[in-house]
Amino acid sequence: MSFWTRKSKIVITCAKGVPPFLKQEILSLGFPISSVGMAEVGVEGTMEDTLKLNLWIRTGQRILFLLESFNAKTPDELYKRISRISWEDYIPEDSYFSVTSFVYNPTIKDSRFANVKCKDAVVDRIKEKRGRRPDTGSERDKVVIHLYWRGNLCQVFIDTSGEPLSRRGYRMIPLKAPMQETLGATVVLATGWEGNGNFISPMCGSGTLAIEAALIGLGRAPGLLRSNYGFMHLKGFDESSWKTLRRKTRAAAKDRLNGRIIATDISQQAVEAARRNAMTAGVERFIEFGVCDFSETPVPDGGGVVMLNPEYGERMGEIEKLKEAYQGIGDFFKKKCQGYGGYIFTGNLDLAKKVGLRTKRRIPFYNGPIECRLLEYDLYEGSKSKKREEAK
Ligand SMILES: C[S@@+](CC[C@H](N)C(=O)[O-])C[C@H]1O[C@@H](n2cnc3c(N)ncnc32)[C@H](O)[C@@H]1O
Repeated sequence: MSFWTRKSKIVITCAKGVPPFLKQEILSLGFPISSVGMAEVGVEGTMEDTLKLNLWIRTGQRILFLLESFNAKTPDELYKRISRISWEDYIPEDSYFSVTSFVYNPTIKDSRFANVKCKDAVVDRIKEKRGRRPDTGSERDKVVIHLYWRGNLCQVFIDTSGEPLSRRGYRMIPLKAPMQETLGATVVLATGWEGNGNFISPMCGSGTLAIEAALIGLGRAPGLLRSNYGFMHLKGFDESSWKTLRRKTRAAAKDRLNGRIIATDISQQAVEAARRNAMTAGVERFIEFGVCDFSETPVPDGGGVVMLNPEYGERMGEIEKLKEAYQGIGDFFKKKCQGYGGYIFTGNLDLAKKVGLRTKRRIPFYNGPIECRLLEYDLYEGSKSKKREEAK
């Protein structure tokens, strides 16, 4: 059986807090879940399945296909077992590979050492079979091997994504404190917004939330934005079926939204960057941009989601100023956003208290190492919705 059609374990990694949303995405793609961890979800599938997963997964980081699993106590044992894998069947003659790893083993003080051992085993094996050393390095743009070594358990994966999936390729201008694209998609999905109703993104920065919302609302696979993946560099990759899959995926996307997406920021430079990023993502015409204070953001009737990602502040002076902004967000929600689900994504819960509204949900996430919350406020009570009721 070909390496491409053999079933194995597929691990989809993600940030902590993301697995419930990743699980939902995977189920909706038709894969039954076999395991859920702190920062990953496991399924069974083939290398061919990884193409679909790489195209569609919005919230995960990497799609890892398990090649071999064994016990190894020491680096020498690791080397021996890895050199038994028939790498010449996976890595083409003229290719290049890199190794990444997660190592939690008492005999290894520095995980780079395990990386080197793994790399040496692959290089030596290929040199023995082909008489020539393959090229290696740290770039992740060709074949990527991922080593997971915890205690005695060692799992060797092909990282079919190569570069992490958060690098969608549209954020050419990142600006200050941008949200990772995968996290942006996760928080949009966490609101339940799927394209019905409006999506309002004041303080849009580089536009990540609005762009991810547009991709979700249109049913566009985020993977269509990227042209390079790890799996493409493996032996036996069938370019024509990949092209067919991409064509069908593109054709299935919608061409209009049942609501408006509005993105504003007080910084002209941010709005320009957001617009250009949206253009690169191919969704510029679905987003209405504006330069204004968040409190002046137009909030059309019809309800939907309004989501802000204010700065969290690091220095005292900054925090004092931000207190006012958070308070202002509470007023903005109360005065202008009735009929909407209000959301704040922040890493500073003390500041969030200044909003002065009762939270309906508080969902924990991590933005890199910073523990954050997506705070949900129910803004359905209020004059606007009452007036609408009365008018019926
Ligand atoms: C943490 S960044 C948002 C990052 C964004 N989620 C992204 O992925 O790029 C906060 C943004 O709020 C904007 N901002 C700060 N004060 C504002 C205000 N009073 N009104 C509107 N935008 C404001 C900043 O210009 C900055 O772009």
